[in-house]
Amino acid sequence: MNTTTAPAPSSPDVLGTSAARARSAVLEEQILRSPGRFRVLTGDRPTGRLHLGHHFGTLRNRVRLQERGVELFVIVADYQVLTDRDVADDLPGHVEELVLDHLATGVDPARSTIFAHSAVPALNQLMLPFLSLVSVAELNRNPTVKDEIAHSRQSAVSGLMFTYPVHQAADILFCKANLVPVGQDQLPHLEVTRTIARRFNARYGEGVFPEPEALLSDVPLLLGTDGTKMSKSRGNAVPLAADADETARLIRGAKTDSERHIAYDPVRRPEVSSLLLLAALCQGRTPEEVAEDIGSAGSAALKRTVTEAVNEHLAPVRARRAAYARDRGRLREVLREGNERARAVADATLAEVRAVMRSEY
Ligand code: TRP
Repeated sequence: MNTTTAPAPSSPDVLGTSAARARSAVLEEQILRSPGRFRVLTGDRPTGRLHLGHHFGTLRNRVRLQERGVELFVIVADYQVLTDRDVADDLPGHVEELVLDHLATGVDPARSTIFAHSAVPALNQLMLPFLSLVSVAELNRNPTVKDEIAHSRQSAVSGLMFTYPVHQAADILFCKANLVPVGQDQLPHLEVTRTIARRFNARYGEGVFPEPEALLSDVPLLLGTDGTKMSKSRGNAVPLAADADETARLIRGAKTDSERHIAYDPVRRPEVSSLLLLAALCQGRTPEEVAEDIGSAGSAALKRTVTEAVNEHLAPVRARRAAYARDRGRLREVLREGNERARAVADATLAEVRAVMRSEY
């Protein structure tokens, strides 16, 4: 048993990647059979325009879960922008773009809830009792925090950065989400959430919080136009908000190699292979099939194929984005309504937490 006075180490290898992968396959089957059993919480920090990597890696997966009938909460993690920088630049702009990216991809505000951290006080208040349930040593050895610190723009580690996984536990547990679609890098964070849920229940009352499970999705690794991992901060991304012309220009400038024959070979020819993968994702084909079509026509032909595939795939996404972008009032309303729904859920959870902690006066 887990005694709450001597916390067991929240080790990521207790639930290693391969175990999480196997478990995810089981969960996918359960989602198909009874989607109503699941509530998903997921989200992003509003730090810049989302790109094609996000589109194929996370956004489409969120929409897929929504379409299966799973209840979806999407957090715009605005407070967490301050984990690795002193000031959040253009927060209103980035938040609006993030919401637009979700709506454009197909998140339906009538069924799913999009909301911002800073608009939900009761969510943030949960962080205080949660902080009492983890030790400094545990936070210190969290590999995701270590990695985030390594990539931080700040010279000193702030308390917010250090306690990032605890805040994230509040994000997930405020709505009692039981499923969190994550990439492998977020598994240690989710372990902290599970530990907090377990310890809270052990200390204050069984069954208050679920122990949320990771749904590992196969995130295709897309390279940016410079041949390194596509990333918001590297200036090598094709933004989801780019129009057809900007997309064509960015893909034309992408790094390739000088071999005329186009073949899918991720190890030896990563840049060409990533472009093939991108076209394949857009067309629902395999990268090998795309390569075969191009044959010995060279990089220029490859880029034309990829540009056409991306622009065709994104046409309906862009149409939805444009419709929302024309109606900023509606956009703000979506977020306002989401905030309200999240507040009602968070208030109910906090009331329950205060009751079991005997702090209702
Ligand atoms: N930490 C996540 C990231 O950097 C964003 C995030 C915040 C999140 N709260 C969350 C993801 C809750 C999943 C669940 O991408």
